[in-house]
Amino acid sequence: MALREWWTRRWMGVAPDPAQWGLERRHGHLHLDGQNLVELADRYGTPLHVASARALQRRVGELRQSLAAYPGDVRICYSYKTNRVAGVLRVLHRAGCGAEVVDDLELRLAERLGVPAEQIVLNGPNKRVAELEYAVQKGIGLIVVDGFAEIEQLAAIAAATSQPVSVALRICPDVKPRGMNLSSMTGSRRNQFGFDLRAGEASRAVRAVLKHPQLRLRGTMAHIGSGIRDLRSIRRSVDRLLDLQLEAREAGAEADLLDVGGGLGTRMSREFTTFELLTYLALGHLPRFPHPAPVDLITRYGSMLTQAVTAGCWRRGLRLPTLVLEPGRTLVSDAQLLLLRVGAVRIRPGIGRFALTDGGAMTVSMMFLSEHHALLLANREAPVRGRTQVVGRLPSPMDIVYRGAPLPHLEAGDLLAVMDAGAYFTATETTFGGPRPAVILIDEAGPRCVRRRETFEDRVMLEEDLNSPEGDRSYAPG
Ligand SMILES: Cc1ncc(COP(=O)(O)O)c(C=O)c1O
Repeated sequence: MALREWWTRRWMGVAPDPAQWGLERRHGHLHLDGQNLVELADRYGTPLHVASARALQRRVGELRQSLAAYPGDVRICYSYKTNRVAGVLRVLHRAGCGAEVVDDLELRLAERLGVPAEQIVLNGPNKRVAELEYAVQKGIGLIVVDGFAEIEQLAAIAAATSQPVSVALRICPDVKPRGMNLSSMTGSRRNQFGFDLRAGEASRAVRAVLKHPQLRLRGTMAHIGSGIRDLRSIRRSVDRLLDLQLEAREAGAEADLLDVGGGLGTRMSREFTTFELLTYLALGHLPRFPHPAPVDLITRYGSMLTQAVTAGCWRRGLRLPTLVLEPGRTLVSDAQLLLLRVGAVRIRPGIGRFALTDGGAMTVSMMFLSEHHALLLANREAPVRGRTQVVGRLPSPMDIVYRGAPLPHLEAGDLLAVMDAGAYFTATETTFGGPRPAVILIDEAGPRCVRRRETFEDRVMLEEDLNSPEGDRSYAPG
């Protein structure tokens, strides 16, 4: 191997193989489910999200299959906050998923998509009273409570409507999954979520709910982070939930549901560790392309849960609960990619190369700041030649895709595919730099636009001053 090639491989890695995502390269162009991504970008413009219905269905099928051995019922309630593009949600619901919603906005979206009330879980850390009232009035399946004040609010609402309300307690199990950064953990005592198990809050919450006959304490819930590959941490969290489940049953609760949250990572993208995050932000050193997680990560997750819950219940003499899952990332992350067009390339001698694209962290996704996603050249095949600063189109040093990304030498007009863009990309995009991109869904009928690109009219729709009929159109300085 020539020295130059060895050095490039050693320090920059090789371009990831598109086949790992089921993509094909034909005449240099990447194809997803038989559709030419270059043609889609030309037809719909960039930035552009492209989602695969087939991949979404496959992931739901894998998750369901992984829990086929669980002897009780299983409910998969997809976590809306991960990606709430209606076209994507519809595919997931048709594949049998319910919904986990964080507020009344998401709740109304689930209703509009025809999700039955009993398949909906409301789970947010700071719910408004009006949201609780709406959820009770609609008879939604489960409200996960997170705070003593919320217990009292719900009890008052339930008493006023004479309607029993099913609740679960969100607990803070104080579990920190390995291999992640602090911003992606949610189950540590340093996080604000849930009743603190260690400080005895969770036990007090059980007693507080049981004081109100209108509230049915159906079980416990925890969510310890997002992008987890370390299954042992999820197992630890399940064990702590089961301890509280036992306590709740002994105190007289039904406790027939166990909500294990979401959090499972994906195969090809991953969170930066805290160290990587700090060195990346401070020094611009992008970690080398990550090792993929095992192909059967979802299967391992399902068998771990089955084993942990059945054995855990048996040891504690508990009846097997209905298992509630709130997966987000694991179902959608690798079912969607984001196409960005390179508008210009700038070479600064002694500094390096910049590729200016039409979207970055301040526009199309905050995730570039804390997660590793592969970038593939979609319009031609070329070897990795060096590190490039790939940035967005805002005049802000924060509008980056990746600093120091190992890439071929890019040219103006090139098309980049950001892989694994299905989770928290459309959810965290902002209108800071430009219109929000369109979303194309490829299903058995071919590609179709399920969300159009935002227009000027969309952007100014909320501006009362601009839209009132008597709005002042004069330009009158002074
Ligand atoms: C309560 C809750 N459930 C489910 C999820 C989905 O997590 P993930 O996308 O990691 O599966 C989240 C994400 O933050 C969450 O906060």
